[in-house]
Amino acid sequence: MIVLGIETSCDETSVAVIKDDMLTANLISSQHFHKNYGGVVPELSSRAHLQIVNPLVKSALEKSSIKLEDVDLISATAGPGLIGALLVGLTYAKGLSLSLNKKFVAVNHIEGHIFSGFLMEEKPEFPFLALVVSGGHTLLLLVKSFTEIYKLGSTVDDAAGEAFDKVSKLLGLGYPGGPKIQKAAEQGDENRINFPIAELKEPYNFSFSGLKTAVLRYVQHQGGIQNLDEQHIKDIAASFQLSVVKALIHKLKKAISNFDVKSVSIVGGVAANSLLKEKAIELASAHNKKLVIPRLEFCGDNAAMIAFRAKTLFESGITHKLDYKPYPALDENSFLSL
Ligand code: KG4
Ligand code: ZN
Repeated sequence: MIVLGIETSCDETSVAVIKDDMLTANLISSQHFHKNYGGVVPELSSRAHLQIVNPLVKSALEKSSIKLEDVDLISATAGPGLIGALLVGLTYAKGLSLSLNKKFVAVNHIEGHIFSGFLMEEKPEFPFLALVVSGGHTLLLLVKSFTEIYKLGSTVDDAAGEAFDKVSKLLGLGYPGGPKIQKAAEQGDENRINFPIAELKEPYNFSFSGLKTAVLRYVQHQGGIQNLDEQHIKDIAASFQLSVVKALIHKLKKAISNFDVKSVSIVGGVAANSLLKEKAIELASAHNKKLVIPRLEFCGDNAAMIAFRAKTLFESGITHKLDYKPYPALDENSFLSL
């Protein structure tokens, strides 16, 4: 069974091939030019996907030593994401499916992230807790099987990655914020400033906009960014990072105590954060749970997770018609590919 996966939901064009159980290609082309604008420009993103998707498919097939006709299942991300960007990959995949007369599966990007731990050698074991932390989403889920996903909580405002991106911009560190904040924080004092962690009524919800505002107020109180020396900025970055990580770990800890799970998987772009990783390792070992954090290649947006998710859906008897529409937002109460 050969699965082709295509991901174009945001600023990464990615194409992957899974041949039986082997990932034979996971090519990722990142649109670095967005950093000149301080964030992703949707129209430029769509155009760049359009230029790169076809050559990337060709390279992925070559790398896997297969021809297009050998592919059994064609899949692409249908949402959530930038609608124009999604349209490129989804329409391309539908076109291939139609012309080659192959089965088609539309994949929910978040579901792709949820199961991305299965691309690792050490895989999550059901039931597991999935913490999805990306630029657009922060979700805590109880995953009982490939077709039983229950939402425990989500962010009521900003996503964790969004908070990293906004605070990085505020501190003049650039885009994307996560890696920049992490780097600055390495030389910072994380205990210098005690930024607040939101306490919410719902036990598994998150909130990061208050924290972002607290950083803004702190900077304003110092007379603005121009009044801060390099060390002070690093200390703010480190203190902010600690607060985000504490908030995430706090909710994860609560869920570990209340649900009888075998594993914990932290996925999405923010799962690349080294402090989050460090604290998650401590938490998992204290509770005797298996921890799976995908390696960098599978943390950020990639088509390997899309092809893998498509395969699991196909194996559960799910395929989609070619009139399947892309969707920009996540309907968190009903994962759409199920
Ligand atoms: O999953 P992803 O690649 O794209 C989305 O689907 O959103 O996540 C991107 C997010 C960005 O907000 C980026 O700042 C964040 O992941 N990120 C990090 C790190 N690397 C990427 N956040 C914290 N620490 C990092 N090392
Ligand atoms: Zn993502």
